[in-house]
This record gives sequence, structure tokens and C-alpha cells, in this order.
Amino acid sequence: MDGRRFILLAAISVHATCVSITPQTWDTIVIGLGSAGTTAASTLASAGRRVLALEAQDRIGGRVWTVPFGDGIVEVGGEWIHGTENSSVYEIAMKNNITVLLQEPNFKIYKSDGSEMSVDLMRELVEYGLEQQEYPPEKPEAMGDFISRKLMDYIKEKHPDILRDQGFLTELFEQMNFFVNSLEASNNWNDVSTETTFVTLNGPQTMSWHRNGYKTFFELLLNTYDNGPGWPTLEIKLNKEVTQIKWPKDSTGKVEVVCKDGAVYTADNVIVTVSLGVLKERYTTLFSPPLPEEKVTAIDKLTIGVVGKTIFSFPERWFPDVNSFSFFWNAEDREEFKDDPWMIQMKQVGRPMGSNNTLTFWANGDVAKLIETLPETVVKSKLMLLLNKFMGKSMKIPEPTGMIRSTWYSNPFTRGCYSYDNLQLHDYPNARVILSEPMLDATGSPKVLFAGEASEPRRFATVNGASDSGRREALRLLPDIKFNSSVF
Ligand SMILES: Cc1cc2nc3c(=O)[nH]c(=O)nc-3n(C[C@H](O)[C@H](O)[C@H](O)COP(=O)(O)OP(=O)(O)OC[C@H]3O[C@@H](n4cnc5c(N)ncnc54)[C@H](O)[C@@H]3O)c2cc1C
Ligand SMILES: *[C@@H]1O[C@H](CO)[C@@H](O)[C@H](O)[C@H]1NC(C)=O
Ligand SMILES: *[C@@H]1O[C@H](CO)[C@@H](O)[C@H](O)[C@H]1NC(C)=O
Ligand SMILES: *[C@@H]1O[C@H](CO)[C@@H](O)[C@H](O)[C@H]1NC(C)=O
Repeated sequence: MDGRRFILLAAISVHATCVSITPQTWDTIVIGLGSAGTTAASTLASAGRRVLALEAQDRIGGRVWTVPFGDGIVEVGGEWIHGTENSSVYEIAMKNNITVLLQEPNFKIYKSDGSEMSVDLMRELVEYGLEQQEYPPEKPEAMGDFISRKLMDYIKEKHPDILRDQGFLTELFEQMNFFVNSLEASNNWNDVSTETTFVTLNGPQTMSWHRNGYKTFFELLLNTYDNGPGWPTLEIKLNKEVTQIKWPKDSTGKVEVVCKDGAVYTADNVIVTVSLGVLKERYTTLFSPPLPEEKVTAIDKLTIGVVGKTIFSFPERWFPDVNSFSFFWNAEDREEFKDDPWMIQMKQVGRPMGSNNTLTFWANGDVAKLIETLPETVVKSKLMLLLNKFMGKSMKIPEPTGMIRSTWYSNPFTRGCYSYDNLQLHDYPNARVILSEPMLDATGSPKVLFAGEASEPRRFATVNGASDSGRREALRLLPDIKFNSSVF
């Protein structure tokens, strides 16, 4: 090798070494790449900010998780776009010419003796009951008490004959409880308050990404859809669990983010998007110096609940062409399951829109938590037993070819599904706003910012609410940008 070339190579390698040992620094570190984090990171990077995104799991999406299954895909987490007017999620799909389809809320009802029940009366009663949520009483009360009272008045007036059928009434109110819990992720409809700051967006509530999958939303945000180039100033690191955030409280300077693997990254500021469940479990160790007391109170008082999905695939589609099946228990059949009372709470099976040969069993609250812990074979055999009991009389049900079950509560990086407004919030009406407030350094500049579903008072519990909260915090750091669209 001639001398000059050697020197050149040596210079290059010295240069390369320099680059790798120079501590890299970013404008912003985003912790978590769910809807909130991905929106925040993309908004900042699209404006040219240097962003590092650290995600503990091996995938992007957080509480949204599109999985190939059956002859297409299924959503283990978030599934629908709830409302289309002013929805940032719907808007970005439209701007990119991606069709999202209405999944009609049609259903059939089967009884525990295997017979089919007419849907008309149940539809009327359930719709009436759920509609009452939009006309809350002046004095807040438990949702279950409120809806029960309204529904009883309605039945007395319109269907007095039902009052003699105690078995029907019992199951009707259990079904109502189940539906409210599925919407709210609560364990009991009396844990939910009639008082809420949530605002339902106009338009259809069950728009589906069908075979595209909700993952498309993340690809659009990250500019990687259809082989897009991504954002040049955004660096993403997966499998990076953050264990501590050191921030300048009574001073100023950089924020230091420490990871479980020992890596340390610094930036001017940090946006924390971990779930309320993760905050509840970790806030004492995650922040140094610790969180101010009012933020701790907000984290304590807010509730995150659990829903669960157990999804089966079959060799072919054997079920009728409606989108969900309700299981209605006769009083005498309950006895048979007194050792497994959770099975009586499995009241709904849905048909995912992203595949033709799959079915989802829904669970909520304590039952959803329990299912996460049972042996796989037990869950499979008990749920197939239910399917056969309710639907097997009129249809031949094949053995399933696969099963997926969600673990949103056991997962240390979610610890729940979404938040709801509980009865305590009447005394802490600003809890979500307090959760969303940034922590400032001595000069008043935001150092640790908070986004995520639970921090959005009007749209919590949804993907679009989480996304809006991520944009809210990105814009806090981009004060000069006039923002008028959710699409970059
Ligand atoms: C079963 C289910 C069904 C749902 N159905 C719907 C629906 O139909 N429509 C709808 O709009 N919404 C639905 N939701 C709610 C919606 O999915 C959530 O509100 C939303 O996805 C939350 O986004 P987020 O960014 O706030 O939080 P997350 O998605 O939880 O993102 C936070 C991220 O932080 C990461 N993280 C956690 N701890 C650390 C750490 N220490 N270090 C680094 N990273 C960390 C997590 O891995 C995660 O990726 C559903 C949710 C579930 C679970
Ligand atoms: C939608 O957003 C516009 C502009 O911010 C606002 O004026 C309007 O009231 C919103 N509509 C709904 C239904 O929230
Ligand atoms: C969407 O379709 C319209 C009409 O066909 C076209 O003008 C537009 O460029 C398309 N947008 C994208 C992002 O593909
Ligand atoms: C799923 O079913 C729909 C409607 O029956 C049909 O159009 C579609 O081709 C099917 N898809 C697959 C992959 O079988």
C-alpha cells in the first residue's frame, strides 16, 4: 500500500471514529411511538427538527397493532375511526386517497339454548339505553344507575309486558352493562360517570381501514407509505425502553434520557407519550427530579381500563353475513357455568373487516384481565364451547386454525387500553389538562412535554385523540408554524 493512500485511509477511519464518539444531540426526543408519539415526531421532523424517537417494543403503533391473520389482517388494538368530521385520522386517509369503509353495525342474537332471537326489540332497547349517554342528568351520577332508570321508565311505558319476564330483564341489563364497558373499557358501568368532557365527532362511528389495516395511518404519518422516503431528520430506535428522564428544573440546559440498556441520549426537550397505565406504574422512577404534586394527583385520579380481544381464524367463513353476534343467556343456562362465571360475560363476537374467516370475542374489565392470564388451551376450548352452544345448532362450526389473544393489561408498556371519565373526576375536572401541561426549566422553556390519549379532554380513548395530543405538543415546540391541516 502506498503511503499517501494509507494516510488517507487513516484519516477516514479517524474521522469515522470521531463521528461515532461525538455524543449526538437532538432537538427533541419522543418517548413512545403510538399514535401520539408518531404524530409528534412526524410533525416536528416534517418541519425540519432533528428528532429521536425511542420505542420500548419491537414495533411502531402502541395500542394500535395490525397483525396478518386468517386470509387478511386483524386489529388487536384500535380498530375503527370514530366519527369523520374534524377527525385527523379520517382526514389523512382521505388526503392520500385511501378508502376506509363503514362497517355496518348490524347483528344477530343467539340464545344459550341455541335458538336465534329477533333483533328488533333488543335493538330498540339497547339503542334507547345507549342514547341516554348524550342526555346526561344535571347532577352527575353513575352511568349504570342512570341508564337503568331511564330504560325502566321506557319499558314501563312502551313494553310493560316485559316486566313479567325477570330472566329477560336480568340479561338485558347485563347486556347494557357489557356494551357500556366495551365502549368505556370499564369493569362495571357504575364506575363510569354520566359527566364527561368527551365530544363525539360527527359522522359514522365505525369506519374501518379493512384490509389496509390501521398500520397504514402510521405509514402515512411517517411518510413511508407506498415506499415513501420517510423524514430525513427523524431517527427511530425500537427495543429502547426508557427508564429515566433527567430534566433541568431549577436550572436550564439539556434533558437526558436514560435507557434500560444503559444508553443515554440528550436533547433540548422530551415529549413523553407513554400510556396512563405506564405512568401510574412508573412515575416515581421515570422522572428526576420527580413530578410536581398536582401531576401526580392527576395520574392517580384518572382511570385506564381494559378491554380484550380473542381472535380465531377458521378454514373458511361459516358464519352469517352480519358484523356481530350477541350471546343472550337464559336464566336456566347460567347454572351450568357457575364455576366459570366469566364465560357468562362473553356476550359479543365481532367479525373483523380486514379478513373473511376470522371472529373476535370481546371481553372487558376484570374478565379481560383474567383471560390474559389463563392457559391458551383453556381459553380456546372454553370459547369454542360457547360458540358451539350459541351458534352450533344451526351451523357446522369447524375447528379454528389459529388464535390470537390481546394482552394490553399484562403488557408492561401499555398496562391497559384506554381511559374513561370516572366518578372522582367531578372533584378533579382539570385532571386531563393538568396531565397535558409541560414541565418548564428555570427560564420558563418547556423541557418535558406530555401527550397521549389520556391527556386529551375532548377526544381521549381514541386514536385520533391521541394523535391530536401529539400534534398539540409538537406545535408547542413549533410556535411559528401556522397550523391548519393534519396532513404534512
Ligand atoms: C383493544 C383496543 C381497542 C381499541 N379500539 C379503538 C377504536 O376502535 N378506535 C379508536 O379510535 N381507538 C381505539 N382504541 C384506543 C386507541 O388505540 C388508543 O387511544 C391510542 O392508540 C393510544 O395512543 P397513545 O399514543 O396515546 O398511546 P400508546 O399507543 O400506548 O403509545 C405509547 C407508546 O409508548 C411505548 N412505551 C411505553 N413505555 C415506554 C418506555 N418506558 N420507553 C419507551 N417506550 C415506551 C409503548 O410501547 C407505546 O408504543 C383501542 C385500544 C385498545 C387497546
Ligand atoms: C370542526 O372544526 C372547526 C374548525 O376548528 C370548528 O369550527 C367546528 O366547530 C368543528 N366541528 C365539530 C363538529 O367539532
Ligand atoms: C388523489 O386522487 C386525486 C384525484 O384522482 C389526485 O388528484 C391526487 O393527486 C391524489 N392524491 C394522492 C396523494 O395520491
Ligand atoms: C372476502 O369476501 C368478500 C365479500 O364476500 C370478497 O369480495 C373478497 O374477495 C373476499 N376476500 C378474500 C381474500 O377471500
